[in-house]
Amino acid sequence: MKTVKGTRDLLPEDTAIFQAIEQRAFAHFAKYGFHEIRTPIFEQTQLFARGIGEGTDIVNKEMYTFEDRGGRSVTLRPEMTAAVCRAVAQHNLVQGDDPVRLLYTGPTFRYERPQAGRYRQFYQLGAEVFGSDDPLIDAETIEALITFLEPFELPNLTLVLNSVGDHTDRPRYLAYLRATLADRVDQLCGDCKVRIDKNVLRVLDCKNPTCQAQMTDLETIDAFWSDENRQHFEAVKQALDGYGIQYTLNPRLVRGLDYYTKTAFELLSGDLGAQSAVMGGGRYDGLVKMVGGPNVPGFGWAVGLDRLVSIIAKYQNIQPSRPDLFFVYGERSWLDADLPFIRDLRRAGLSVAYDSRCGSFKSQFKRADKYGAAFVAVIGEAEQDAQTIQLKNMATGEQTTVARAGLVAHIREASHA
Ligand code: HAM
Repeated sequence: MKTVKGTRDLLPEDTAIFQAIEQRAFAHFAKYGFHEIRTPIFEQTQLFARGIGEGTDIVNKEMYTFEDRGGRSVTLRPEMTAAVCRAVAQHNLVQGDDPVRLLYTGPTFRYERPQAGRYRQFYQLGAEVFGSDDPLIDAETIEALITFLEPFELPNLTLVLNSVGDHTDRPRYLAYLRATLADRVDQLCGDCKVRIDKNVLRVLDCKNPTCQAQMTDLETIDAFWSDENRQHFEAVKQALDGYGIQYTLNPRLVRGLDYYTKTAFELLSGDLGAQSAVMGGGRYDGLVKMVGGPNVPGFGWAVGLDRLVSIIAKYQNIQPSRPDLFFVYGERSWLDADLPFIRDLRRAGLSVAYDSRCGSFKSQFKRADKYGAAFVAVIGEAEQDAQTIQLKNMATGEQTTVARAGLVAHIREASHA
């Protein structure tokens, strides 16, 4: 049996990087006041259909939707923002005007055509801020993301920024698009013909080159921005400039989900090929209300972890953890007698391994090498008699005899030397 198409096992060399990202995320975003939220992996279908938008590819073609045994239509989450908004509404998390900051990570599901960097089960790490439409929230939440990525030292990343307007100005832009594209309908693909009526913004996303050719001379949304939205966007850019964050403007960036208002952005990587978006996000001021909550503004983003991990693997050497200490025994009975000692070493914080077959010293050393142990503790006849340990530092080759009681301190000291 094999994994289902579009899914994969994450093996230790992958999960080591996932863990490094997740550990850094919880420590880093705590500094900004983010706390973790975990929502269910499946929700009522209506939540995503309404939240993400009936005319989007996600809702039309990509959701894993099924009826449960009780006849309810449920959907494996294709993203988490709508679910987090549902939770904010359900638990009344935003009270007064204090922003609430939530962080999440977990699997998401979209029935897309699998290719490099595109899976049917993939992982997102996301951050959402509720309760404020201050442009500073947009800038700070983007800044938190950029500084989060800093230690991974990834080149070739570009932050692309736009404002997609809102109910005060977008309808005029949509009307313009509909009118202009109606004259060119014969040149558009079948999908886009439907999109003109159903969700005209999505025409701009179409990858079909013939459709793209029809877009080149279209006005972009910045020509339609209301004064208020223009000012909001200016303030976001100014705050990003203040942080020293570089970005490119792309007035054609519309994102694939319908809930965005004002700021929308993506981080693109030159290392990912066709699926170049490492993450995406933006403001979604009407979404909490749309899913049944109060009129609470929101801003956030989600990183595609599978893609981020593949880039990090290219530039950083993050490996599964290795044992601090590997025991090599002359006889199995000495290992048996040492089990409480080994337990205590682990209690003291060391990662300890051994080969229970206790074969030749050579074969045990070979295994210690394979595991990448930092130190090898050899218990030969002399050491067993004297209850000492012959300790070999595998990095330097240095060997010393140490007392059992001093072993942990010795390894700690040598590791930090
Ligand atoms: P999204 O752009 O649909 O936004 O997804 C975010 C990221 O998830 C993408 O940039 C990409 O890295 C990754 N991703 C999407 N689909 C796949 C796939 N099939 N395989 C691998 N990776 C994938 C959202 O989901 C929004 N909820 C982001 C957001 C949060 N906006 C506001 N708050």
